[in-house]
Amino acid sequence: MITKDFTNDIPAAAETLKNGGLVAVPTETVYGLAACGFDEKAVAEVYEVKGRPEKKPLSLMVSSKDAMDMLCENVPPAAKKLADIYWPGPLTIVLKAKDCIPDIVRAGGSTVGLRCPDHPLLRVVLDETNFPLAAPSANPSGEKSPVTAEEVWRYFDGKIDGIIDGGKCTLGKESTLIDLSKTPYAVLREGAVSITELNMMLVANMTIIGITGGTGCGKTTALQVIEELGGLVIDCDEVYHRLLREPGAMRDAINERFPGALKPGSDDTKALGEIVFSDPTALAALNKITHQCVGDEMNAMLLRWARNGGTLAAIDAIALIESGVGAMCTATAGITAPRKARVQRLMKREDIAREYAELRIDAQKPNLFFEENCDVCILNDGTQAEFHEKCRTIFEDILRRNS
Ligand code: TXA
Ligand code: MG
Repeated sequence: MITKDFTNDIPAAAETLKNGGLVAVPTETVYGLAACGFDEKAVAEVYEVKGRPEKKPLSLMVSSKDAMDMLCENVPPAAKKLADIYWPGPLTIVLKAKDCIPDIVRAGGSTVGLRCPDHPLLRVVLDETNFPLAAPSANPSGEKSPVTAEEVWRYFDGKIDGIIDGGKCTLGKESTLIDLSKTPYAVLREGAVSITELNMMLVANMTIIGITGGTGCGKTTALQVIEELGGLVIDCDEVYHRLLREPGAMRDAINERFPGALKPGSDDTKALGEIVFSDPTALAALNKITHQCVGDEMNAMLLRWARNGGTLAAIDAIALIESGVGAMCTATAGITAPRKARVQRLMKREDIAREYAELRIDAQKPNLFFEENCDVCILNDGTQAEFHEKCRTIFEDILRRNS
């Protein structure tokens, strides 16, 4: 077979692919060996030429995000969010395949990897062909992935129909592969996009609502609504006390800075409090440790939630705004209520006298603080059912705007 140089004749390359031929194509990662993804015979040829084991599935190159719903089913919101960020670009997303994808492409499995490459010549090919391209890296199995057309010529001259020379691959490193076909989502191959960055994106793509407000305003009802909407609720205070009790980075750091101040297995902070009470430097050091560790733990909880397909979470923190945690959130919501209603709720809930309830409420931030600092304020000035409904409407609106 004579291998043609299709560099200056992209339509001929597209025509060759339509007719079941094999063409090596440039991408931003490494060169690929492409065939029509719907043509079983052509795909079999790719395995043959590469000497690739038949158990190893091929990914499909597509021209845009629209291909996801055409080729795959049960596409989670995270897939579209990641495609919005990275496509065209070096991320391959594994999803549940529809029946239209030949068995040989999936190597008998139920999933398929989709990749939308970022190279001007290849994008012309994809636009002209109108079908996905099954395209592994353009090297014989076991050899190094090629980053120039010269390497491809050396590997496959006389064995494939043609080669498009698109210059040296800009990234020179394979795409990162993430499996979103089942939970927990998993990175199957770390390539041009780092795992750390992908994890950050999975968290950032969720809707995270920070919820704050004084005692007796109705925060509990608001958090209940989040759970009804399928969201995860993270209680900052609970995380802080858990980290104080359980062995780990936070206890280690506190023990190092304040030896003997923590009792084993206890979240009693009396001794710590006495040390930092009159020593601003010590207080700042303690706050730095706890903010860092509580923040890390909340991030880990959010990542677990995102990897399990979660799309909504709420962070419940008294000092949401002051601590900077609000900055992690898509939106912050302050729950407020008229003073009279708060006093009554508090007296009833905690079975305390009016003066004491008033003292506690007056020691907290006024409604105005939340009105000025939160993205939305939810005023709880009617019945419980009305407030519940108000929260639901507002949270659903935040979710909609972020989807
Ligand atoms: O950057 C890249 O991804 C390059 C360029 C050419 O697009 N392609 C590439 O393809 O590296 P390949 O076939 O050499 O590597 C893709 C890897 C293989 O290890 C394959 O087994 C795995 O992705 N893979 C493909 N589809 C899969 C699926 N449905 N489930 C799990 N792994 C899959
Ligand atoms: Mg490869």
